[in-house]
Amino acid sequence: MSLEAKPPRHLPVLPEEVVRGLEPLDGCQVADLTVGGGGHTELLAGRVGPAGKVIGLDCDAEQLGRARSRLVDLPVELVHARFDQAAEVLRERGLQADRVLADLGFCSEQLDDPERGLAFRHDGLADMRLDRSRGEPAHRLLDRLDERELARILWEYGEEKQSRRIARKIVEARRDKLPWTTTRLAEIVRSCLPPRGVTGRIDPATRSFQGLRIAVNDELGVLESMLRQLPGMVKAGGVAAIISFHSLEDRLVKRAFADQAVWERISRKPIEATEAECAANPRARSARLRLARRLP
Ligand SMILES: C[S@@+](CC[C@H](N)C(=O)[O-])C[C@H]1O[C@@H](n2cnc3c(N)ncnc32)[C@H](O)[C@@H]1O
Repeated sequence: MSLEAKPPRHLPVLPEEVVRGLEPLDGCQVADLTVGGGGHTELLAGRVGPAGKVIGLDCDAEQLGRARSRLVDLPVELVHARFDQAAEVLRERGLQADRVLADLGFCSEQLDDPERGLAFRHDGLADMRLDRSRGEPAHRLLDRLDERELARILWEYGEEKQSRRIARKIVEARRDKLPWTTTRLAEIVRSCLPPRGVTGRIDPATRSFQGLRIAVNDELGVLESMLRQLPGMVKAGGVAAIISFHSLEDRLVKRAFADQAVWERISRKPIEATEAECAANPRARSARLRLARRLP
């Protein structure tokens, strides 16, 4: 099978719900703030006609490279930028968007790349940066941060109850002067947790990995900044759709749509994937889609 014929690895979540909620029409200007594998971008760009356009952003240049081949012949412009820079990207082009989509988090390709060190399933140096052109990788934080700060990260971003114990063990493990690989880190975390947790459905290292990844990429800070700028990116009557994957993100999105007077929430409850979608795409299980219309 040729590379082009290979089915895409990352399946876009809630595809029908996103298209139905955003209703991209002929001539629409769309901003897709998280192109990833290009699945949603393709669905949206295929509906805006020759007069419409999708500006697609991603902070990971490799993801944009992968998505590019899928999006040829579609009215798409790809830009390597973080989504808290989206307002500036649109301003530079003299645009306000009719529709905005942000599908937060990371793609399967990023998770499965051992060089990114995002997952304990794949052994590699714990880097965890989505944008490898900037920022401080996780292994540096593991070497540099004091015990208190490490515990705060694991507690606040990973919601890990044993955060202090794990932070202490990480600081002690520095003495071994071994590289911070994902496998080693996961073993240290697991050694701090009771067997009950170890035998649970979710690997006990999951929460600590989530906490570190959120800290490395300043995920909540960047999301808050983007949400503050969002009203200025969307035309009156336009629609914003945000898909989040954990409660810390969803809380920020929910609060922004409720507190900023410019939004009319399209539904109060987040839209979740059907059982059929979750069976075909387990990632969809934790997806929450919130939609809001920009008032005049
Ligand atoms: C869940 S994936 C998007 C998948 C995409 N909707 C699709 O259908 O293939 C999330 C993407 O957002 C990107 N991303 C995460 N944080 C970002 C940020 N702050 N700014 C821009 N892109 C970001 C990641 O690099 C990743 O490619």
